[in-house]
Amino acid sequence: MSDVLWFNGRFTTTDERVLGVEDRGFQFGDAVYEVFKFLRKRPIFLLEHFRRLQQGLQKIEIPVPWDESSFQETIRELLDRTSFADGIVYIQVSRGEAQRAHFWPDDMTPTAIAYSRAFKFPDAAKKERGIRVITTPDHRWHYCSVKSNNLLANALAKKQAQRATADEAIVLSDDGFVREGASSSFFAVKNGRLVTYPLQDCILPGVVRDRVLDLALSARIPVDERPLREAELFDLDEAFITSTTQGVMPISEIDGRIIGNSRRGEVTTRVQELFDELEREAASS
Ligand SMILES: Cc1ncc(COP(=O)(O)O)c(C=O)c1O
Repeated sequence: MSDVLWFNGRFTTTDERVLGVEDRGFQFGDAVYEVFKFLRKRPIFLLEHFRRLQQGLQKIEIPVPWDESSFQETIRELLDRTSFADGIVYIQVSRGEAQRAHFWPDDMTPTAIAYSRAFKFPDAAKKERGIRVITTPDHRWHYCSVKSNNLLANALAKKQAQRATADEAIVLSDDGFVREGASSSFFAVKNGRLVTYPLQDCILPGVVRDRVLDLALSARIPVDERPLREAELFDLDEAFITSTTQGVMPISEIDGRIIGNSRRGEVTTRVQELFDELEREAASS
């Protein structure tokens, strides 16, 4: 099925083959992407996603093709043209198209795309049941704070998880610390406290992670932003991942070992409720 596509300032559909073979996003993974969710055609946490995109592009020296208001306007029109109410929007900005060479010309025009896509968000049963995860070494590059579309290491880790009948791979640093999921942020719960990796270049600053930290603060759930040791993983009360598409998702097993009593824990349930409520508010504001 074709989806509505915005490509460098005009609307078309994903049926049109818009990208050139020498686009640097295709040739070098020289691009930054974003994914946000919309409910009842309302974008959720749009500006947070835009700011992360902006920061990522600035970090790798790609000009940002929108300012805040032209971005909002593009997305408003994209969602107006979309035929379904709930889904995700995928955005990618590459350095642009040029004859293939590692050095890029100084005057490049970025290639920017945005398209909407229907998405099956987790239902109540899945949100209660949670997911199984595996751990695996982190083979990604040093700037995971940039949402680069160089996702090979993430994709290999996810495939490894799938082959082990798990849903997510949690990546570990060489010195044995728990960083994040291949496509999610990771939270542990121990003695009523949340533990999550501090914001550093080796993790993505998750939009949901950030919201969850704010919610925890207002709900007086203590948070430790510190690297968790791999050994601590097997002595946790609860664990969950967060992401735009999964929201707050409990973890029932890590590497085949049951976490807590295998059911969604109290703290995870509370954080999930608070986050779902916040999302509902965002969709009705
Ligand atoms: C590596 C990684 N970490 C964390 C996240 C969660 O980020 P967000 O909450 O902004 O969806 C993602 C989402 O794609 C991701 O790819």
